[in-house]
Amino acid sequence: MSTPAFHEAVSRSFDIGWVREQFPSLQLRVNGEPAAFLDGPAGTQVPRQVMDAVQKYFLEQNANTYGAFRTSRRSNEMISATRGAMADLFHCSPDEVVFGQNMTTITLGLARAIGRELKPGDEVVLTLLDHDANFSPWRALEEKGVVIRTVDIRESDCTLDLDDLQSKLNSKTKLVAVGYASNAVGTINPVAEIAKLAHAAGAMIFIDAVHYAPHGPIDVKALDCDFLVCSPYKFFGPHMGTLYGKKEHLERLKPYKVRPAADTIPECWETGTQVMELIAGIHAAVEYIAELGRRCDPSVRDRRAALLAAYGSTVEYERTLLTRLIAGLLAIPGLRFFGIRDPKRFAERCSTVSVRLGKGTPTDAATFLGERGIFTWDGNFYALNLTERLGVEKSGGVLRVGLVHYNTTQEVDRLLAALKEFSAS
Ligand SMILES: Cc1ncc(COP(=O)(O)O)c(C=O)c1O
Repeated sequence: MSTPAFHEAVSRSFDIGWVREQFPSLQLRVNGEPAAFLDGPAGTQVPRQVMDAVQKYFLEQNANTYGAFRTSRRSNEMISATRGAMADLFHCSPDEVVFGQNMTTITLGLARAIGRELKPGDEVVLTLLDHDANFSPWRALEEKGVVIRTVDIRESDCTLDLDDLQSKLNSKTKLVAVGYASNAVGTINPVAEIAKLAHAAGAMIFIDAVHYAPHGPIDVKALDCDFLVCSPYKFFGPHMGTLYGKKEHLERLKPYKVRPAADTIPECWETGTQVMELIAGIHAAVEYIAELGRRCDPSVRDRRAALLAAYGSTVEYERTLLTRLIAGLLAIPGLRFFGIRDPKRFAERCSTVSVRLGKGTPTDAATFLGERGIFTWDGNFYALNLTERLGVEKSGGVLRVGLVHYNTTQEVDRLLAALKEFSAS
C-alpha cells in the first residue's frame, strides 16, 4: 500500500496539461462543445509520437523483412526495438513477445494451437465476466471433446466468484482463461491468486489484459502467467494485438503456419506479413508512457522503471476522477449501478463504469450525450455473458463510461450534468 505522502507527491507530479498536449485529437469539437472522449475502453486516442512513428516508418523504413538492403534491415531493427519495448511493458524477454492483428485473432490462433495438445475430456475454465474474445475461441475446443467449465460472478458487485472458480478446477483442467480487468464493469480480478490456483491444479493460465493495460502495470514474471494478451490501441497505440507467451510454451506448441515462414519463436507465431508501420507505432506508444513516467519521476533509471512510474501516477489520477464520477452517478435518481461502488475497494476496480438510467435505453442516453460532444458506449461491448447474466442484454445492455489518464474532472462534471438533464427530461 502507498502512503499519503506518496499520493501527494504523485498528484503533484502528474501534469494533465502536458498529457493533453500530446494528444492532438482531444481538440475535436462537436456542436460547438469540446469533445470528451469517455470511450477509452473501446480504443484510446493516440499521442503525436505514435502518428510521427507511423509516418517515419513509411518515409525511412518501408520494406518487407529479411531483405539484403537498407530499408528492409531497418524494418527488422524497428521490429526488434518494438519487441524490446513490449518486453519492458510485459516484464519478459523480447523473444516472448508476439505481434498480431488484434487480441481476438491472436487468441483464436493460440486456442487452435493449444487444442492440438488437448484430448477429449480435458477441461478449460472460462468466466462470465470476460469479453467474448476470451470465451468463444476456447469454447470452440468443444469440437475436440474438450469440456468447458464456466465461473459465475457475484451479482452484487460484479466480481468473480472465486469459490466457484476453485470448485471448477481439478486434475483434468488444462487451461484457465481469465480477464485481468472487465471491459464492461471495471472489476480487476485477482489474477496472481488465480494463476496460483490454476498452476496448483496443473493447468496453464491465459490472461486477457486488454482492458487492464491502460490502467495498470503488467508484470508477467510476478504473475507467473503462461500467456497474457493486450491490444496497443487500448493503451494509446495503433490498432494491433500483442501476446506474451512463456518461452517454453511458445517453443513447445505448434502454431498453424505456412512452410517457408520462420520456425523459430517468436516469428513462427506471427502469421503472414505484419503491419509494420503499426508495429513502429506500438514502440512509440510504449515510449510515450515511459516519457510520462520520466516526467513524473525524473530519478528513474531505465524504461521499465519509467513505465512503472507512469502507471504509479495515472492509477492515482484515474482514481480521483473515478471517485468523483461514482459519487455523482449514485446521486442520480433511478440510476442502476453495476460493479464495485465503495471507495474503500477501488483498488479492486479500474475507472470503467457501467450504469442504466431510470429512463430511456442505453442507446438513447449515449445518443443524447454524443450530441453534446460526450462520447460513451452503449450495449454489451462483447461482454455478452455478463449482460445476459445481469439480465440487461435484451433491453439494450448498459451505458459505459471509460476514464483514462487524459480525461479531466471538468469532463466528469459535464457528463454528470448531462446525465442529470437526460434523466430529468
Ligand atoms: C477485455 C477485452 N478483451 C478482448 C478484446 C478484443 O480485443 P481486440 O479488439 O484486440 O480483438 C477487447 C476489446 O474491446 C476487450 O475489451
